[in-house]
Amino acid sequence: MEKSKNKFYIRTYGCQMNKYDSEVIKNLLLKLNFREVSSPEEADYVFLNTCAVREHAEKRVFGRLDSLKGLKRVKPDTVIGVLGCVAKYHPELIGHPVVDFLAPPDSYRNLIQWLKTKRKGTIPENENEEYSDIFISPNKISSYLSITRGCNYFCSYCVVPYTRGRIRSRPPEDILEEAQSLVNSGTKEIILLGQNINAYHYNGIDFPEILKRVSSIKGVKRLGFLTSHPGDLPKELFSVMAAFDNITNYLHLPLQSGSDKILTRMNRGYKLKDYIKIIEEARNLMPDSNLTTDIIVGFPGEKEEDFQKTLDAMKRIRFDQAYMFAYSNRKGTLSALFPNQVEKKVRKQRLQRLIYTQNEITREKARELIGKEREVLILGEGKKGCKLGKDRNGRIIMTDGVAKIGTEYIIKINKVNGWVPFGGIKKEA
Ligand code: 5AD
Ligand code: SF4
Repeated sequence: MEKSKNKFYIRTYGCQMNKYDSEVIKNLLLKLNFREVSSPEEADYVFLNTCAVREHAEKRVFGRLDSLKGLKRVKPDTVIGVLGCVAKYHPELIGHPVVDFLAPPDSYRNLIQWLKTKRKGTIPENENEEYSDIFISPNKISSYLSITRGCNYFCSYCVVPYTRGRIRSRPPEDILEEAQSLVNSGTKEIILLGQNINAYHYNGIDFPEILKRVSSIKGVKRLGFLTSHPGDLPKELFSVMAAFDNITNYLHLPLQSGSDKILTRMNRGYKLKDYIKIIEEARNLMPDSNLTTDIIVGFPGEKEEDFQKTLDAMKRIRFDQAYMFAYSNRKGTLSALFPNQVEKKVRKQRLQRLIYTQNEITREKARELIGKEREVLILGEGKKGCKLGKDRNGRIIMTDGVAKIGTEYIIKINKVNGWVPFGGIKKEA
């Protein structure tokens, strides 16, 4: 490969796992003397790392590909690749006028070899890929670290098991080595990632155990994790979270629906009462815990009374925040075949109603913090010259611009800006 022809641009869409994967890809490319540039126009290689979980995410990628037609016309040598879930979900994209190659999620190692000869095509995947020995070094205060890949759950609406394959857990030594190297490069907050992180299992080591081990690395000031499934939360998880100081008392636990009928159709494997029991346990052991969720409205067969059950559950549980979506019909999933698909207009209306309800709760929960003191680790710049940080429960808190990134302060919350609690610095923690 010519040295002058090694500039790449990468754009990441979708979830945290994709952000992590982009770091893995960058790491592999930098070893080959590639250089990252900040626009497609400057690049020899344009990579779009994509998401297929909902139609909307996918449309953004298709839109971007269309807008790259002009670039391909004036710089026909630019190699354009679609990476990630869309590459797997839409194999026909190889016929798209601007697409040179497709690289699905388990193909990135092969991609690097392939780039040396630069051909058109779909890069083959390594079925058991864990990217175990690749240690990312994003030089960030807060970094992701993937500990599992894939998912075995097959929720009836979800493409992930098809695009990312079966679950694989990474060896503990690799996780610990990567965590240590992140700390050495300046990371103070690590967020462990897995599509269903509870299911981590490697030679008798389970998720709570790996959590403990990463938490005992010196220099890890905050340790979080995403995403848990209510169906298989390990028994001792909450007691580990409560006992270890640097593990944030933050649980992202997708409920998806408040109706048992819909939960069954979604193949989620729990009922609302089971979910509520988990929340009660979490709140008993971690009274100030931060709880967020994912909800889908307008799933096939969801009647107004089912949607009401979701609204009621939201009011009862009072999540700190929720990520809310209108159901998106994904070809190849089981629910795409279900009868009684809900009209798009109704899905949108329900989504608006749900967002309205949750926004009130989010604001109230933020207001409850007024007058309280929190230990906040400053992680970055916020709006209007403010700084943003996280407290020990992983809640975002805003403070004055004088706060130094990477430092921990005692902050007294005195108001709420939009949804975000804002406080003044009392002293360094
Ligand atoms: N339609 C809408 N939302 C979906 N999600 C996953 N698949 C779909 C779909 N087909 C949501 C779920 C999941 C989150 C990552 O995305 O709520 O937890
Ligand atoms: Fe998709 Fe369900 Fe797996 Fe989450 S647990 S990635 S929603 S199949």
